[in-house]
Amino acid sequence: MADEAIGLPPELTKFDPENMRGAILEVPSHVEQGYRMPDSLDLRKMDGKFSAVLIAGMGGSSIAGLLLKSYLEDECIRLDVIQDYVLPKWADNKTLLIACSYSGNTEETLSVFKEARRAECSIVAVTTGGKLEEYTRISKIPTMLLQAGYQPRAAMTVQFFAMLRVLERLKLIPSKAAEVLKLKEDLKNQLQSLEKNAMILSDKLLSKTPIIYTSRRFGTVGYRWKCQFNENSKVMSYNNVFPELNHNEVEGYANTRGNYHAIILRFSEDHRRVQRRMSLTKEIMLRKGISATEIGITGPSLLSKLFSAILLGDLTSYYLALRIGMNPSKVELIEGFKKDLGPYVA
Ligand code: PA5
Repeated sequence: MADEAIGLPPELTKFDPENMRGAILEVPSHVEQGYRMPDSLDLRKMDGKFSAVLIAGMGGSSIAGLLLKSYLEDECIRLDVIQDYVLPKWADNKTLLIACSYSGNTEETLSVFKEARRAECSIVAVTTGGKLEEYTRISKIPTMLLQAGYQPRAAMTVQFFAMLRVLERLKLIPSKAAEVLKLKEDLKNQLQSLEKNAMILSDKLLSKTPIIYTSRRFGTVGYRWKCQFNENSKVMSYNNVFPELNHNEVEGYANTRGNYHAIILRFSEDHRRVQRRMSLTKEIMLRKGISATEIGITGPSLLSKLFSAILLGDLTSYYLALRIGMNPSKVELIEGFKKDLGPYVA
C-alpha cells in the first residue's frame, strides 16, 4: 500500500527511520510464522503432565501471555502471567513455565526462569538469544528462536502464536488451527481500513491523554493500546475495564484535571449490562466535557477481533507518534533506565 494511498503526509515518514509501520503491517504474516515455530520442538518428555502453565515476561513480551490468557479464558487450563522476579511458591514439577523475552536479557524473566529451574518446573523458552538462550542451550531446554531486528512489542503476534501452538502440542487445549489459519487473510483484508481509521483517530488524540476502556474480558487489548501509546507515541495513557470502573473511576469525572480523550472498545461478547454501562459512562464523560470515541470491534472469530483491535491500537499509536514528531521505535527512557539500574545479581 503506497503511503499516498492512505494520505500519510510524506514529511512525517522521516520520524520512522526504522520502519515501525512496516513491522506493524507484517502482523498478518506473523500469525503463521509464530504458529509454525514449535513444530520442530522436541516436547515428548512433557506430554500431558501439567496442572498449571505460567508465562514469564515483561513489557512487550508479557502482552502475548496476557492476550493468550484472555483468549483461552473459557478453556480448562490454569494459566497465569508473571510480570515480576518471583515464581509463585506453589509452582512445581507439574508446572509448565514459558519464559518469553524478546532480547533474552530481561532480568525479571531470567530470575523467574532460574527459580523455575530450582522448583523443577518444565520449561520452554521464546527468545531471540541473550542470556536466556545461553541458559536453555546449556540445559537442553526447548527454545523457539524468534527473528531478531524488531522492537520486542512488534514481535508480540509471533510470540502469541508460538505459545498457543506449544499448548496445543502438549494437548493442554484443543486445536485452534482452523481459526488460526483463516486469520492471516482476514487481517490482510482489514489492514487498509484499519490504517485509515487509525490515522483519523490519531488526529483526535493530538494534545490529549488517551484513556482506553473495554470490558474486563478484553482488558488486555486496552492494556496493549495503553502500552503502545506509552512506548510508540511517548505519551501518558491509561486503561481500565467495565464493570469495575463504574464503582470507582467514574467518580473522578466529577473533578477532571486532565485533557483526556476516551476510547471505548466494544466487542459483541460484552455482557449486555456492560454494553449499557459503556453508553451511560460515555454520556457522563461528554457531560463533563471529555471527548470520547466508541469503536465496535467486529470480525468472524474471537482471534480476528482480538488482533484487529490490537492492530488498530498499534497503528493509532504509530500515527500519533509521527504527528507529535516522535520516533515510534526508540524507547530511550526505558533503555536508559535499564542501564542506570545496573546488572542484577540473583
Ligand atoms: O517493548 C519494549 O521494548 C519493552 O516493553 C520490552 O518488551 C521489555 O522491556 C522486556 O524486554 P524483552 O521483551 O526483551 O524481554
